Amino acid sequence: MSATAEERRQQLVELFEEVKRCEKCPLHETRTKPVFGAGNADADLMFVGEAPGAEEDRQGLPFVGRAGQLLNQMLEEIGLARDDVFIANVLKSRPPGNRDPLPLEIQACEPYLLEQVRLIEPRVVCTLGNFATKLLSGSHPAAALRTPAVKETLRADFATIPDLLQRPLPGPIPSSEELKEAEEEGGSTPPPPSDQLGFFG
Ligand code: URA
Repeated sequence: MSATAEERRQQLVELFEEVKRCEKCPLHETRTKPVFGAGNADADLMFVGEAPGAEEDRQGLPFVGRAGQLLNQMLEEIGLARDDVFIANVLKSRPPGNRDPLPLEIQACEPYLLEQVRLIEPRVVCTLGNFATKLLSGSHPAAALRTPAVKETLRADFATIPDLLQRPLPGPIPSSEELKEAEEEGGSTPPPPSDQLGFFG
């Protein structure tokens, strides 16, 4: 039986407490606040970005800067609000100067993201940017956010979300322990969920 919304929320709060105490990589020394993620613990749609920027680090919330405004706008255009979805990042702490996440940092933070996905059990995961897409699907898209043409592509991608949300559920999402075991038994990365789009490439 799947968890109730309240059970999911409680477990996410416990995970958040763990993230607040986390010292697995040096980013905890330079961050202002950890950015765990925010939104509906029972969401069908989950967004995964790269890492907190300056404003996110200051507020402790994901996508509250410029990229966040664009995300809000795109969500609104498909009839969704931030409260309907859950938004997280690959890294929970800001890399100084917004530099790219380092492999060691991604490795340290990955179990938190996988646990978030496992607890929320979203129908659809939208990755925002190369790092999230690479981590969760194993592929590497090369689009860029800043040009108007790409914004139109993004808008077209978002237009597919309502349909994706209606599709039947894929199989159960494995726990991080199960993923680790599968890797140790010779698999490389976990199989990607069946329908996955990478946005904000
Ligand atoms: N970009 C991201 O990837 N994450 C944020 O939280 C903000 C901008």
